[in-house]
Amino acid sequence: MRLDRFLSNLPQLNRQAARQLLASGRVRVDGQVSHDGHTEVRVFSQIELDEQLLQAGKAARYFMLHKPVGVVSATEHPEHRTVLDLLAEPDPADLHLAGRLDLNTSGLLLLTNDGQWSRRATAPTGEHPKVYLVDTEAPIDTAYVDVFAQGLYFRYEDLTTRPATLEILAPRHARLTLYEGRYHQVKRMFGHFQNKVIGLHRVSMGAIQLDPLLAPGQYRALTAAEIASF
Ligand code: URA
Repeated sequence: MRLDRFLSNLPQLNRQAARQLLASGRVRVDGQVSHDGHTEVRVFSQIELDEQLLQAGKAARYFMLHKPVGVVSATEHPEHRTVLDLLAEPDPADLHLAGRLDLNTSGLLLLTNDGQWSRRATAPTGEHPKVYLVDTEAPIDTAYVDVFAQGLYFRYEDLTTRPATLEILAPRHARLTLYEGRYHQVKRMFGHFQNKVIGLHRVSMGAIQLDPLLAPGQYRALTAAEIASF
């Protein structure tokens, strides 16, 4: 909501009074005087009028979790433990996932209560690479590299995947960098060559790398720099 609307919605104020307060520099958003009625007010914004707190501002929360295999990337599940069960945080139900991983995939998972941030983190704009380590049943042929770089046609979605970078690290082990996140994308890409993915691990999303100090199932808050990277 815009700041002018937020102020004029208060029972004691109307639009004109709200404009005057803004013009006179009596309104602060997150500690900074704001004269601009267009300023966006979010649930996380702290709004003050003189010394009066109009909205405390909910704390925005951001975490990285080392997702173990066998834990489901959902907030609820009838059979499996969910990633939220791994968090010892107040109000875990307020948090949502910024991008999912399959049940048998491990690695970097981001959780937050900030919907704008998670939309940026997962936007299919091609800006933020996602890097996976892949183990396959059969050897990985060098022919995959060009096919993945050119893009693969996915009939179900009627689209061609964005160019992806494959680095073959060992006969059955590779690093794959994707710039989007389609359903079961990595498995389907290797499936094109009838090569089954038997291990999948996400190591990074954009500039955020899975912290090597986190064992599977452990998590930590993101740093300010990590948060600002999306
Ligand atoms: N691609 C997959 O196939 N699975 C994942 O969990 C992530 C990417």
